[in-house]
Order: sequence, then C-alpha cells, then structure tokens
Amino acid sequence: MKIAVLCSGNGSNLQAIIDGVKSGYIPAEIALVVSDRKDAYALVRAREAGVYRLALSIGDFKSREDFDREIMKNLKARGVDLVVLAGYMRLLSPEFIREYSDRVINIHPALLPSFKGTHAIRDALKYGVKVTGVTVHFVDEELDNGPVILQKAVDIREDDNEETLLERVHKEEHKLYPEAIKLFAEGKLKIDGRRVARQ
Ligand code: GAR
Repeated sequence: MKIAVLCSGNGSNLQAIIDGVKSGYIPAEIALVVSDRKDAYALVRAREAGVYRLALSIGDFKSREDFDREIMKNLKARGVDLVVLAGYMRLLSPEFIREYSDRVINIHPALLPSFKGTHAIRDALKYGVKVTGVTVHFVDEELDNGPVILQKAVDIREDDNEETLLERVHKEEHKLYPEAIKLFAEGKLKIDGRRVARQ
C-alpha cells in the first residue's frame, strides 16, 4: 500500500509515520510527502528519510481547485492508495474528496465533534473542559467532520498551558496515527454510515 502524507508545518506526526513504516509496524510505503509551504520542517524530515517531496505554493495557482489538481496528478503518478493529512492546514476541494473518497484521513487535536478548526488546543483550554484528546477520522467535504476511526482522551490539568497540553496531545497523536494507518493498510476498517468498525 502506498501513502501520501500532506503537511504544512513541523511534521512531528509525519516523523511518527516515517518511524512506523521504517520499523515495519505500518505495512505501507510513503510514496510522497506534499507541503503547501516551502519552508515547512516536514520537508526536511522527508528529505532525511529519503522520501520523495513535493512543495507547492497556492500563490502559484489560479485557484484552489487547480492547486488540488496538481496534487492529485502527483498522487496518481505515484499510485497513492491513502492520503494522510498530518497538520495540513488547508481544506481539500470537493473534487479531491470525491476522487479519494474514503481514502483520506486526518488527525485532529481534540475529541471531535468538540473544538473543530485550527485552534483546538487553545479552544479547549479556554472553554475549561477537563478532558480533551485526539481524533483520527476519515475526511469528507465538511471541516473536521468525517467518520471517526480512533480517539484517545487526554486529561487537562489545572496548571496546563497551550505548550504543556500540546506536548501531551502530541504524545498521544504519535501513537494513534500510526495505529490508524496500520489498521487501514491491513484492510481492517469498514465504514458504515458515520461509524467505523474494526475487523
Ligand atoms: C497536530 O497536532 C495536528 O493534530 C494538528 O496540527 C498539528 C500538526 O503537528 N492538526 C489540526 O489542527 C487540523 N485541524 P505536526 O506538524 O507536528 O504533525
């Protein structure tokens, strides 16, 4: 199975996936890493792992659709079976989602449907919830909305700030994402409406 990992930033989840593939825990090959930012540290991680990289700027394209078509062209050329969003801070076009229907997954730093959007950690702290967590889910056309694959709770402590909470959330992400990708690669996930069964 071939996967593409789409990133925008640091790429610590990409690193966990690279390590999971290298150790044989994830039975898949990373066919390429795509970044929508040329300065993303994720690209350095991909280079160091010897993974093919593609860096694109939205400013070089006429539209979001054209941008996504360029990505799709590259995914097809490399025979990608699964698209893994790892801190990719851009919404995919409906055309992309249709083309890769049930084959795009995302990780979100909260227990969805709570705290959707780009500031989930900050929003959870601000709201004052005692428990937040991590969600891995299939991606549909709505933001942070598709069927949930795995979730893991993280307790919020009284003295937590964004940095300390992010650190514990990341720790869980780096275990949960490789586990979800492994399940997908082994053909063990079955989508039934909003529910995802493990077989
Ligand atoms: C991760 O915490 C991921 O859950 C979050 O971005 C971070 C990327 O970190 N994604 C979202 O907030 C998506 N809405 P990384 O670049 O170190 O993997």
